[in-house]
Amino acid sequence: MPLVNTIEMFKKAYEGGYAIGAFNVNNMEIVQGIVDACQANNSPVILQVSSSARKYARHPYLRAMVEVAAQESGLPIALHLDHGPDFATCKSCIDGGFTSVMIDGSHHDFETNIQVTKEVVEYAHKHGVTVEGELGQLAGVEDEVSVDADNASYTDPAQVQEFVERTGVDSLAIAIGTSHGAFKFKPGQKPQLRFDILEDVSRRLPGFPIVLHGASAVIPKYVAMVNQFGGQMPDAIGIPEEMLRKASSMAVCKINVDSDLRLALTASIRKHFAEHPDHFDPRQYLTDGRNAITEVVDYKIKSILGSENKA
Ligand code: G3H
Ligand code: 13P
Ligand code: ZN
Repeated sequence: MPLVNTIEMFKKAYEGGYAIGAFNVNNMEIVQGIVDACQANNSPVILQVSSSARKYARHPYLRAMVEVAAQESGLPIALHLDHGPDFATCKSCIDGGFTSVMIDGSHHDFETNIQVTKEVVEYAHKHGVTVEGELGQLAGVEDEVSVDADNASYTDPAQVQEFVERTGVDSLAIAIGTSHGAFKFKPGQKPQLRFDILEDVSRRLPGFPIVLHGASAVIPKYVAMVNQFGGQMPDAIGIPEEMLRKASSMAVCKINVDSDLRLALTASIRKHFAEHPDHFDPRQYLTDGRNAITEVVDYKIKSILGSENKA
């Protein structure tokens, strides 16, 4: 099957009350690990590439791997640019075979965000590519900003209708208290998400797909495994799974996960070397890494996203 854009998958997800997993890919084992789980569950999926992943693995390699994954699996797979910083990067991805792009203008003022997003939408739609915009700003992992203390970063529901109408975006990422990385809440802090904002946004945008970034659960099993085998991760706290399940059943149609995959891959490779200190064939430890990715994605599809048998 050729790569698809997100229109059909989001329409079905919205109507069916489930979400599509959007997983960051950086190499072959990650692509295969994710798609193996999707195939076993007959689940659609979004494979997304950040600017730094594009720099690391190089655009043509990532595109080719994801295209082969779609052909081989027969699943609906979208190749998506994650956090596109500007028009030039989005254009390069659209011209280079991506079927979906995010233009992240969330750090701009409202008017500038509308202008940069609109420019990308006009170009993308001419090429059958869907566009995700963002309103409101997530805390970054290095910001050390306490999520609930930083009210300014939440999406203002009063702005969403105007943003969507004037830009023509196909989906909208909003900030309701999630954040990127493995340290989403401080130790002892009760994880909270602003579901009231999500509800308000979806009331103002009926039927419109919402995107949740920074949605790794930071699965305790893998944090513990990293530390059991020589790592030194301080207390890492992610988004509670019941909150992700709730979001999936609401207007959230795309749930972004990167950190959980990084942790599973790293934990399994650390374990591999602890148990086999003599190994030096990458295929041996990367097999464990790939299997760990499959395990995480399988779990997410069944327990959080609800996207099994929706391909
Ligand atoms: O949202 C950010 C993603 O986790 C991608 O991170 O830029 O290190 O590839 P990266
Ligand atoms: P996590 O760091 O929670 O995995 O979020 C990833 C993400 O939002 C990619 O855009
Ligand atoms: Zn993100």
